[in-house]
Amino acid sequence: MTVTRAGIDYDVANLDLAAEGVRRIEWAEREMPVLRIIRERFATEQPLKGMRVGACLHVTSETANLMRTLQAGGADVVLGASNPLSTQDDVAAALVNEYGIAVHARRGEDRDTYYRHLNAVADSHPTLTMDDGCDLVSLLHQDRAEQVEEVLAGTEETTTGVIRLRAMAADGALGYPVIAVNEALTKHLFDNRYGTGQSTLDGVLRATNLLIAGRNVVVAGYGWVGRGIASRMAGHGGHVAVVEVDPIRALEALMDGYLVMTAGEAAGWGDLFITATGNVNVFRREHFASMKDGAVMANSGHFDAELDLASLRDMAEGHVREVRENVQEFDLGGKRLHLIAEGRLVNLSAAEGHPAAVMDMSFANQALAAEYAVKHHAELEHRVYGVPPAIDAEVARLKLAAFGIHLDSMTAEQAEYVASWKHGT
Ligand SMILES: NC(=O)c1ccc[n+]([C@@H]2O[C@H](COP(=O)([O-])OP(=O)(O)OC[C@H]3O[C@@H](n4cnc5c(N)ncnc54)[C@H](O)[C@@H]3O)[C@@H](O)[C@H]2O)c1
Repeated sequence: MTVTRAGIDYDVANLDLAAEGVRRIEWAEREMPVLRIIRERFATEQPLKGMRVGACLHVTSETANLMRTLQAGGADVVLGASNPLSTQDDVAAALVNEYGIAVHARRGEDRDTYYRHLNAVADSHPTLTMDDGCDLVSLLHQDRAEQVEEVLAGTEETTTGVIRLRAMAADGALGYPVIAVNEALTKHLFDNRYGTGQSTLDGVLRATNLLIAGRNVVVAGYGWVGRGIASRMAGHGGHVAVVEVDPIRALEALMDGYLVMTAGEAAGWGDLFITATGNVNVFRREHFASMKDGAVMANSGHFDAELDLASLRDMAEGHVREVRENVQEFDLGGKRLHLIAEGRLVNLSAAEGHPAAVMDMSFANQALAAEYAVKHHAELEHRVYGVPPAIDAEVARLKLAAFGIHLDSMTAEQAEYVASWKHGT
């Protein structure tokens, strides 16, 4: 139920959790020095003054710090979840209670509530959208087309969202420019790879307490996310096999030291299966049929579509039970298969998502991309843009400075050498 108080509308699980949420937001903030520097500058310069930001992001302690940054920059912010299972209810409560930010998100909300919340964000008539997976942009364009012209620009956080936006732009359907934050090097090289790598391992461990050492771990997709997961699983002593459809990425996986197999070959080999492809039905009926008793499945790709759950449910004929928090057992008669977090993003549903130190860079890009979009929207076409390289470099520079690391710069001789075509053998 939406409640209105002190001029803001919200729908969160329990405002009594606010104090714990504040503690967690402040803890995350300690690991987000780049965002802090940006927030301090925003507070003085007010680059987002007059903007209404509609955000559809995972409601986590790191996101809370991004919302505070946008607010410091002068924006009115309304936040909804980008996944029904990733909301941290204490953080949602703290944002409403302590920071005066309108939040519409409850952990475990059903699909109807998820869309009611997304519509509540759209009701605020955003002039800037900030999406993680393109659900808000998609809702505005499909159900609220009359509002699209009110939006100056948007930003998008993840690979799957960028793919959807590019498809919209190719159809001529995208009504405003969107900056693909995922394409910043300081985003995907670190967030997708190290952030998802560590937090996926964390989610699997919290849900199952499985020993990874000695286990056969199958990672589907060797993109930025998949390679992070593979390296962390191998680091814990797992035997890792990669399933890919792209020959170059498969070759990289092979030369990085992993086995490479088809999904069919991996099905009977693996003990733990993790999908990170952004695609649908990567493991499906024929694979479930040949999996071992006790096999565990999880997904770290954006949508809960990577495992063919309809077939899994069908094969279990109703013999499904929760055996631990976040773990369902599907009894297929003679063997049991386990699914973590209903096949939704395991790192956000069964753990806390990425460590704050990595979200520091992703959300620094979000904040700076929002500032850039406000300044430059009139010059931009209705298509998907990368993050300007100067912003990317600035985020890396600030992050290194926060680690206390200094870099060499080229000597005059070196600068001349690399700029010249005359030097040879
Ligand atoms: N869990 C998180 O917190 C988190 C963080 C970042 C990104 N993501 C999501 O993870 C997914 C992957 O992101 P990415 O940045 O690694 O993307 P990517 O495009 O770099 O990699 C995806 C890989 O999957 C492979 N692939 C596609 N279909 C396949 C199939 N049927 N079988 C095997 N491999 C297949 C592709 O060839 C590609 O190499 C996306 O949905 C993205 O939105 C999740």
